[in-house]
Amino acid sequence: MNRNTDWKLVESQLASLLEGTDVWVSVLANASALLAEELEDLNWVGFYLTGRVVARGVGVDELVLGPFQGKIACERIAWGRGVCGSALERDETLRVDDVHEFAGHIACDSASRSEIVVPLHVGGHVVGVLDVDSPILARFDADDQTGLEACARIIEAHIGSDA
Ligand code: SME
Repeated sequence: MNRNTDWKLVESQLASLLEGTDVWVSVLANASALLAEELEDLNWVGFYLTGRVVARGVGVDELVLGPFQGKIACERIAWGRGVCGSALERDETLRVDDVHEFAGHIACDSASRSEIVVPLHVGGHVVGVLDVDSPILARFDADDQTGLEACARIIEAHIGSDA
């Protein structure tokens, strides 16, 4: 299915939305809301963060649930576990056409069929991930990956030099 997301428009909307904002929880809350509004056929979009952003009681090598839009999700994900922990470990975007084929996929919502996870960085460190789920098989294509990676670069610039 060709959704033809206008990624340049989404990126400029995100940049305008986040202008002058540097409190990470607000940045990520509004970023997840914008992506949920602008992208079709999603059932979850949000963030998992390491202790580099969420300091108290969270390690730099584990993920804790951050702001999101969607159903209740698992709170912690270990380094290397699931799609999110694997993207964190490899420090690369993971685009999964069929989550049932991904060994170790963590099913927070049984409706999820495809998923894309983009790592976030601050100060040269991977500090968390942007996670987007869809109930449609192979929902995300190469253009979506490029667009979400561009969004991740915009978000990174607002989540704090102290992260
Ligand atoms: N599916 C993810 C877990 C997070 S939920 O999708 C919100 C994973 O395998 O890491």
